[in-house]
Amino acid sequence: MPRKLFVTTALPYANAAFHIGHMMEYIQADTWVRAQRMKGAEVNFVCADDAHGAPIMIAAEKAGMTPQQFVATIAAGRAQYLDGFHIAFDNWHSTDGPENHRLAQDIYRALRKNELIDVRTIEQFFDPDKGMFLPDRFIKGECPKCGTRDQYGDNCEACGAVYAPTDLLNPYSALSGATPVLKSSEHYFFRLSDPRCVDFLERWTQDGRLQPEVANKVKEWFSRDESGKSGLGDWDISRDAPYFGIEIPDAPGKYFYVWLDAPIGYLASLYNLFARRGLDDAACDAYLAQPDLEQVHFIGKDIVTFHTLFWPATLHFSGRKVPDHIHVHGFLTVNNDKMSKSRGTGISPLRYLELGLNPEWLRYYIAAKLNGRVEDIDFNPEDFIARVNADLVGKYINIASRAAGFLGKRFGGLLSADLGVEGRSLLDALRAHRATVEELYETREFGKAVREIMALADRVNGYVDQHKPWELAKQPGQDALLHDVCSVCIEAFRLLTIYLKPILPALAAQVEAFLQVAPLQFADAGRSLGRHAIAPYQHLMQRVDAAKVEALLAPPAAPAPALPGGEAIAPEIGIEAFAQVDLRIARIVDAKAVEGSSKLLQLTLDVGEGRMRNVFSGIRSAYAPEQLVGKLTVMVANLAPRKMKFGLSEGMVLAASHAGERAEPGLFVLEPHAGALPGMRVR
Ligand code: 2FM
Ligand code: ZN
Repeated sequence: MPRKLFVTTALPYANAAFHIGHMMEYIQADTWVRAQRMKGAEVNFVCADDAHGAPIMIAAEKAGMTPQQFVATIAAGRAQYLDGFHIAFDNWHSTDGPENHRLAQDIYRALRKNELIDVRTIEQFFDPDKGMFLPDRFIKGECPKCGTRDQYGDNCEACGAVYAPTDLLNPYSALSGATPVLKSSEHYFFRLSDPRCVDFLERWTQDGRLQPEVANKVKEWFSRDESGKSGLGDWDISRDAPYFGIEIPDAPGKYFYVWLDAPIGYLASLYNLFARRGLDDAACDAYLAQPDLEQVHFIGKDIVTFHTLFWPATLHFSGRKVPDHIHVHGFLTVNNDKMSKSRGTGISPLRYLELGLNPEWLRYYIAAKLNGRVEDIDFNPEDFIARVNADLVGKYINIASRAAGFLGKRFGGLLSADLGVEGRSLLDALRAHRATVEELYETREFGKAVREIMALADRVNGYVDQHKPWELAKQPGQDALLHDVCSVCIEAFRLLTIYLKPILPALAAQVEAFLQVAPLQFADAGRSLGRHAIAPYQHLMQRVDAAKVEALLAPPAAPAPALPGGEAIAPEIGIEAFAQVDLRIARIVDAKAVEGSSKLLQLTLDVGEGRMRNVFSGIRSAYAPEQLVGKLTVMVANLAPRKMKFGLSEGMVLAASHAGERAEPGLFVLEPHAGALPGMRVR
């Protein structure tokens, strides 16, 4: 009986394009799935857009679209990435599809029937301008611990404190700026603290199905206090309208919290796939209920709690089969720079493709770095170039290119069946590694698999170097040996291709065409080609062009200097970076020349703080002090104070100029429109 697998990757939020972190997860899962298929497993591999939730609703509103339209525009952009990197999902769906609405409501009804749903009144921040309850991420204020302004409602980015949104000082709504008010409302809870759930989850998480480090981490939830209560609290699964989500049955105006319906989207995508194949829901129910079906989820380390507590409990207590494996991976850094979940890293997968970089180089590099543990991996450009050029092309591709020419020119493309003692023993050695390679794929030790395969490639290259086909070709009477040596190379190349095929599917397809063989499976490693005709060799893979990698990592190209003055626009930054600059309206209370400086004016500025600031500004050539006194301007108020020869400068006033012009008549101090007051923030 073939192994049956239902495999998913995490469903990405439908509010942004994919970043390189998404591609890493897809490459990992896709490689694993391809290896399973090459062993004969029957796999359904699906994903979907995670469509619901307040952030998507708000983003849609900002874009002037309905959430459905907004999500559809994001969904339309997915294929170019997935096809581009050869990610072979059998289906891509959406958590807003009808299947998910039905499934989420059915599952909820089953949980309710099991007496695991509670209704409780809770108090929450409400935005009176917007008329909606505010998610934590949309409440900002001053950190209760260190006083840093503009911190989110759940934790402080400055001091790391974790708190409830109600702890923030001077809270405001990030949507409208209004001061939120506390308002009570009925919420629906999944009673995870019920002993049935605690017992089930404790067993499920500790029975060896999770990676040891993951099992250890979730163990914390089950430590009990003196009264025997575990740390597992009830889970708030409802949100009030307006919300983009699935309506809770018999609860008007209430929607499922996005994290309840998101994983149900795994099932919804599968039901949708069955429907596309002309199979009904009953067939999918039966498929999912099979005891020997393995349900496998690939996820990142940030969403472990959802997948090891909430999700198995949701499935189990609604009478469904639970996941068999949760494969957790770490994050991808670029040059050891942490990536932000929303902004990604400097590497855009689309730019990678647009630059003409080969998608399989990235697949190979990521595979070479991955292991079965929850470890972060780093994309390092020099390492990327070295591994692709020296190993993938230099060691593996090279084997074919060194042998194929002679076979075509001298032997009509026909392989020799003899191969010689040495050749046969080399090939046997390669074949003997099949079980190891399969096992390394199984355990997601792709890095080890790649090292193993490259070590085999080294042995083949050693054989080539020893027999020097280019010299045999020149020696009379050595035709038979040349034929054997080149045939051994091609057979070895076929074996290495089998081993690399889960990582390099497009290249393997090219090799299959070149070797004139059917799609390669692991079992094909047990056979040999014998007297077999191959097609003329065409070059299979280029080396990486370092300049393109540099272009990939460089900030997006500045537009051509069509601007007067010739100064190109600076590299793009996120709104977060801009928000770090605190610009304020300042009144120039006093201005005077600085003795000993032809460039500086000394300004006394009032930014409404109840004290004056001293700022030295290089505008003397353009302004006389008396032109400025009493005027308003804009200053950078949170610039670190700078000690200058003439004293301490506590900020900077803004002035406009062309590049290189720092003097009359090309320098203009900024002045706000009438009505602005000192201390107002410029945003
Ligand atoms: O963290 C995320 O990006 C979520 N959208 C993942 C959801 S996975 C599953 F539960 F749908
Ligand atoms: Zn703080």
